[in-house]
Amino acid sequence: MPDSWTIAIVSDIHYASPAEQARRGYEERAIHRLWLRMAVKAYRRYIWLRDPLAHNHLLDRFLDAAGTPDEVVANGDYSCDSGFVGVSDDAAFASAKTCLDKLRQRFPGRVNAVFGDHELGKMSLFGGQGGLRLASWHRAVSELNLPSFWRRTLGRFELMGVVSSLLALPVFDPEILPDEAVAWQTIRARHMAEIGEAFAGLPADRRIILFCHDPTALPFLLELEPVRQKLSQIELTMIGHLHTGLIFRLSRMLTGLPTLRFLGNSARRMSTALNQARCWRQFNVRLCPSLAGSELLKDGGYCTITLPADPEAGAGLRFHPLPR
Ligand SMILES: [Fe+2]
Repeated sequence: MPDSWTIAIVSDIHYASPAEQARRGYEERAIHRLWLRMAVKAYRRYIWLRDPLAHNHLLDRFLDAAGTPDEVVANGDYSCDSGFVGVSDDAAFASAKTCLDKLRQRFPGRVNAVFGDHELGKMSLFGGQGGLRLASWHRAVSELNLPSFWRRTLGRFELMGVVSSLLALPVFDPEILPDEAVAWQTIRARHMAEIGEAFAGLPADRRIILFCHDPTALPFLLELEPVRQKLSQIELTMIGHLHTGLIFRLSRMLTGLPTLRFLGNSARRMSTALNQARCWRQFNVRLCPSLAGSELLKDGGYCTITLPADPEAGAGLRFHPLPR
């Protein structure tokens, strides 16, 4: 048995195919009220990300820098989802396919891919366009080979990947098409059952490294008795989704915020997550930022986790900044 294992984690790559790049300005175009469009544009330009379609080169930089890890975890969001309906949109599918192909060619047999919310579709910020689409789920599973749940064993560590959008489906309810609701519930129930089974069968000496794209899902995991019983075995939960340590720190400060139901769907969804964020501590949550990070801080990069043969020594998490 080796002395230790190394896992490289990359999150929120948001690759842009030529067809997605041709949609520059898609976020603003989806907002009809002028003042809101200007406010969102200013936020995107100076704080979040000036041009979300201009960071393909960062994937190549990660592939060059990551060395020879034992396992690679891609923690979701492979495309820019510029159609807001996930990979059922051909342009977003092309982005995700290129992104995953590059990862799998560079690290053959070692890439463990997690679903992000953008693989399935996500309603545009304040624009109300798009949302989860069942066709995106089926295409991601069958054509991108994204598993709903995966598990790897490294010594006494268990790596597990879950689908945050399925777990947090009640929060995404307004984004689901009415005639797809029953099918989503069935897929969610199956996912909850496979996670429950995996936790229930876990020996007491195992340490869990959980990969979950969006932390909104974590309170829903606590609905599962086997997860509640084995919470103390969770060494780390690696999330993505928030892109920057700035938003991660802000989210922790705003924990317990009341759910905002009067500012539209995006504000309702985000405030619901913050309202229930107290449980993040129980999961020992850590953020792997996006490759690009925020516009304000340019704090993007990737992470590595070193797992020792003796779990008592603890997992070593390290952030590796990537210059833009
Ligand atoms: Fe993302």
